[in-house]
Parts: sequence; structure tokens; C-alpha cells
Amino acid sequence: ALLISAMIIVAYLLGSISSAILVCRLKGLPDPRSEGSKNPGATNVLRIGGVWAAALVFFFDMLKGALPAYGAYLLGIHGFWLGIVAISACIGHMFPIFFQFKGGKGVATALGAMASISYMAVSLMSTWLLVVLISRYSSLAALITCLLAPFYTLWFDSRFILPVSMLSLLIIWRHKDNILRLVRGEEPKIFGNKKR
Ligand code: G3P
Repeated sequence: ALLISAMIIVAYLLGSISSAILVCRLKGLPDPRSEGSKNPGATNVLRIGGVWAAALVFFFDMLKGALPAYGAYLLGIHGFWLGIVAISACIGHMFPIFFQFKGGKGVATALGAMASISYMAVSLMSTWLLVVLISRYSSLAALITCLLAPFYTLWFDSRFILPVSMLSLLIIWRHKDNILRLVRGEEPKIFGNKKR
């Protein structure tokens, strides 16, 4: 129990390090919390600073999910509690202690965490990529991936069904503004030459 609690805290603290805010600061870009969708995540950094800045954010946000989850796995934490460690990293990203608890939506961090502990990540990333390629909506891709994720656990590792469902719900809830924009047809597409 001590080990699990320690890993939950480590995951939360690592998750709290906002790659989007730091990369934008280092590159002299505007703060992602005050530009575009005002979300400190890779998608919004893509709008503000282009592909390379966004790739850096995506990579480091994945890494901060992957490190604690894989660490916990190596330390012998499995199944449900491993899922909880993964969720903690995402909660850190969403409510970062280092940035007034105003964080992002947890997509990259969740993908990174899942990638380090389950082959399920291949399905998650394929789903996300496919929806992005078809629709060019980053948020829609995240939402559809979250809806399918609990079903993927049944195929890959049913011990993750509860934590993955919880994480999916959390990520969907963080996208409530995106959902409204999608419904109204006001959600900006990514990689579009038309800004709308
Ligand atoms: O990863 C977050 C993405 O799904 C939506 O980001 O900036 O369009 O709200 P954004």
C-alpha cells in the first residue's frame, strides 16, 4: 500500500509538469493558456507554434505518463492499481500543482501511460490517428478513442476495464467545451489551411 501510494504521488507530480507551458516559454511562444483554445496541450501548441513545438509537447506529455506507469509496473504493481497510477499522471496533467491546478485534457499523457503498460496503446493510437486523418478534429479523435478504450480492454487486458473507463470519462469531461464547439460546427480543425 505504501508503494502504491508513493507511485500515485510521483505520477501526480510528474503529470503536473506542463510540457506545453514549458516548451512555449523556452521557445518564446505565447502562453498556450491564453491563445487558441487556451488549452496547454500539444493540439493547441500546434496552432500557436507549429509542428515541431507540438511534437515536443506530445512527446514529453506522453513521457510523463509513461515513466511513472512503467516504473510502477517494474515495481510489481499490476492490474487495477497500475491503472490508478496511470490515471494519477493524467490528473496531474489536468490539475497541475505547479500551475494553479489549471491544466490540459490528458490525451497525450494517457496515451503515454497506456503505451508503457499495454499493447492496447496500438489500438488507441490507431483509432486516434484514423479519426484525425478523416475528420481533422483532434478533440473528436480523443473523444472517439475514449469511447472505444473500455472495449479495447476486453480484448487486451480486462483488468484495466475499470481504470480505463474512469480515465476515459475524465478525458471526455475535460472536452466539454470541445463537444459544444463540435456540435455547433465551431471546432477548429488541425492541419487545415483555412483557419475557422
Ligand atoms: O488533446 C486535447 C485535444 O483533444 C483538444 O485540444 O486545444 O483543441 O482544445 P484543443
